[in-house]
Amino acid sequence: MFQNLTPLAADPILGLMAAFRADSNPHKIDLGVGVYKDAAGHTPVMRAVKEAERRLLATQVTKTYVGPAGASLYNEYVAQLILGRELAESTRDLRCTFQTPGGCGGLRLAAEFINKCNPGARIFVSDPTWANHIPLLGDAGLQIATYPYYDYATHSIQFDAMMAALEQAHKGDLVLLHGCCHNPCGADLTQDQWRAVRDLALKNGFTPFIDLAYQGLGDGVDEDCFGVRLLAAAVPELIVVSSCSKNFGVYRERVGAFTLLCQDNASMKAASSLIAATARGIYSMPPDHGATVVEMILGDSVLRLDWEQELTQMRERISGLRTLLVQQLRAAGVDRDFSFIEHEKGMFSFLGLSVPQVQRLVKEHSIYLVDSSRINVAGISEGNVDYLVASIRKVLG
Ligand code: LMR
Repeated sequence: MFQNLTPLAADPILGLMAAFRADSNPHKIDLGVGVYKDAAGHTPVMRAVKEAERRLLATQVTKTYVGPAGASLYNEYVAQLILGRELAESTRDLRCTFQTPGGCGGLRLAAEFINKCNPGARIFVSDPTWANHIPLLGDAGLQIATYPYYDYATHSIQFDAMMAALEQAHKGDLVLLHGCCHNPCGADLTQDQWRAVRDLALKNGFTPFIDLAYQGLGDGVDEDCFGVRLLAAAVPELIVVSSCSKNFGVYRERVGAFTLLCQDNASMKAASSLIAATARGIYSMPPDHGATVVEMILGDSVLRLDWEQELTQMRERISGLRTLLVQQLRAAGVDRDFSFIEHEKGMFSFLGLSVPQVQRLVKEHSIYLVDSSRINVAGISEGNVDYLVASIRKVLG
């Protein structure tokens, strides 16, 4: 059965992690996978996470099963985190949240669930989008369509073209939107653009599906949910998949959630039973440790404040690195205008280099980034920015 298989190429993002680790160049820089890094290049365990883990270890008395939906308190706190308290209250009878194995588990669970409700449903994804969206959604049976999003020439959103394409999305279709910190381009919808998307969703009847993987790393924990909350208050059906990987730094613990908003309580209850059965058929139930830690932080005012403060520092550090990179490129006499990087949000931006130029950065300079020239800005530091700028200058010729 397995004799005719041939090895696949490494995952374009995850493959870079292994290549970076194996590189002995002391100047190497990792701008690949989207993880936060401090000035020393480390991805720390956040203070509140450490403290919650310490408490958990001291007080946990059982590791018996929880269930396909995960912990109900975690689910409620996550719903409040993404919707805000007021909306969480007013939608109480219309919504359900499922704890999932990371954002990826949430995306896959949502896709499998949608495919049961509407087999082969069409989902419009932005061009470009995070590479893993395609297998996570497509392998579940959804049909992938795209809408134009990022204009590489002007480094801005092609909003008119996006809206023209979304005119083709109707009832039964879904439209995947990045809640904040667009991955891979860092260009986010403005508040007016979100309003226009809401109006189109209401007019055409498609179901918005928001991937919220970077809450708190763009403009702030509440600010980054502008689109989620605007749509949740207006549209009859909404899907939100959120992740705690980045904003709680619990990447390997796999902590995420799938939140569904329905038109009425009876639909929500029926949908909820189908989601539970779907989760049971894929992974039975999500891992507990990371979600319990997040639950403890969100439920304790002191830990929560400390988490928010550390998250703010992370966000401000990334935004400072954006400015630093742009300034240093300018100071080094690089002609090309990179100022757009300063205005983009979250961990990612495209440098706008060609694949051969990216390959030179990787092979000749040990600077690791994906072929699209997406960089994880958090991988830049005060200590490596000069080497990075000099290397970019060289490959630009
Ligand atoms: C990324 O885009 O680098 C992250 O979301 C990590 C991943 O799983 O690809």
